Amino acid sequence: MNTNLLRLSLSLILIAISASFALADDSKKTTVADAAVTKITILGTDQMKFNLSEIKVKKGAKIELTMKHDGKLPVNVMGHNFVLLKQGVDLAKFAMEAMKGKDSGYVLPSQIKDVIAKTDLVGGGASTTITFDAPAPGTYDFLCTFPGHYAMMKGKFIVE
Ligand code: CO
Repeated sequence: MNTNLLRLSLSLILIAISASFALADDSKKTTVADAAVTKITILGTDQMKFNLSEIKVKKGAKIELTMKHDGKLPVNVMGHNFVLLKQGVDLAKFAMEAMKGKDSGYVLPSQIKDVIAKTDLVGGGASTTITFDAPAPGTYDFLCTFPGHYAMMKGKFIVE
């Protein structure tokens, strides 16, 4: 390594160290981690719809996803959740099986192996938030598993 390169590297290290001190100071006012978190809010409606049919995130992202029920109907009538499936899982088959899981938010314990992330089931006016790491780059299916909803309430979750 020549001298100039060495100097440059040392300067960069010093800049990095200063930067981390600066971040540490900021953390008293704001949460530093938040800057690196991708926040997503998805709405479910009384018309049995999500407001998003596609969600795009960057690889390696920490995701904070809020599922908000924007309607008024109760959870037992028009419940919504957000369930992100692993690749290769058949969405329709998963949804049909999930209907048997009334006592576990319409995802059976035996189905957890097929799930990357899921929220609780919410009714009108309620919301729920989860955090998870973006899976490997690719395209994934998400759906609401409340009985009969998956045909209308589904979309693509894309990691770039
Ligand atoms: Co639903």
